[in-house]
Amino acid sequence: MKSCAEPAGRAALITGASSGLGYELARLAAFDGFDLVLTARGQPKLQEVADELMTACGVRVHVLTKDLSDDRAAAEIHAATEALGVRISVLINNAGFAQFGPLVDSDVAELLSLLHTNMIALTLLCRLYVPGMVKAKGGMIMNVASTAAFQPGPLMAAYYASKAYVLSLSEALHLELEGLGVTVTALCPGLTRTPFLTRGSMARSGFSSNRWVMDVAPVAAAGYRAMKAGKAVCIPGIWNRVFGFGTRFVSRSIAARAARRVQERRGG
Ligand SMILES: NC(=O)c1ccc[n+]([C@@H]2O[C@H](COP(=O)([O-])OP(=O)(O)OC[C@H]3O[C@@H](n4cnc5c(N)ncnc54)[C@H](OP(=O)(O)O)[C@@H]3O)[C@@H](O)[C@H]2O)c1
Repeated sequence: MKSCAEPAGRAALITGASSGLGYELARLAAFDGFDLVLTARGQPKLQEVADELMTACGVRVHVLTKDLSDDRAAAEIHAATEALGVRISVLINNAGFAQFGPLVDSDVAELLSLLHTNMIALTLLCRLYVPGMVKAKGGMIMNVASTAAFQPGPLMAAYYASKAYVLSLSEALHLELEGLGVTVTALCPGLTRTPFLTRGSMARSGFSSNRWVMDVAPVAAAGYRAMKAGKAVCIPGIWNRVFGFGTRFVSRSIAARAARRVQERRGG
């Protein structure tokens, strides 16, 4: 039995749904009554999430194991949802990760994977799902950016640049789709307590012990509310908003140097 008001056949596609923000966003969408299509690379964890939400909310949940650093992944996800006959009315492009350290020392294969996952797959999924939403005269997209989008970030250069891309793309798409019933929301979290902070080279960042780290549930809830309200940008947390606003009043080189100092102090 569906536990909420959303009619059957409308589904939310959420990338990176096996942990952190993606998991919380999947919970919110399921409790809101959306059927779900969940993606990530790791099948067992994703299936665990699917089983939990099917039991808790009575919604249908499909699991697609995909690596978004693969060029074909977005098209394969789209083809799979078409074959399943699932109408995606909510697209949450959440999957992403970071590298910590100087760009010139980064692992090249992992760097490529970061650029594909954080930007290319996200862009292609928007490109593939927007036409169906416009045709249905309704749809919501959330692209997970970051407060890293607001300034260059030495020692996490590619990650910060990828999130600046996500914010810019999302704000532009929000306006392109104005009046067509489809909204695009860029969620810009600051540091949030998830496995992201300790994955791979991020373990050296020391961010997990930063006292400004927010809990994941309120960050996801703020983003979900903003998406449902059709807002263009959401920055959860008062201090993150102050910080985001503050970067408008200093030059980009000063903001970049400040970001570098923060990163160096932590582990660069
Ligand atoms: N936590 C923070 O402080 C913070 C701050 C600002 C923005 N963000 C952004 O929030 C988003 C979610 O991150 P999180 O904090 O929730 O981190 P997380 O707990 O590490 O979750 C990342 C999710 O993305 C999936 N994923 C990673 N690489 C993938 C790939 N190549 N292909 C497919 N799926 C992939 C992971 O599953 P698999 O590993 O199984 O694939 C996992 O489900 C990211 O875009 C991140 O940049 C996080």
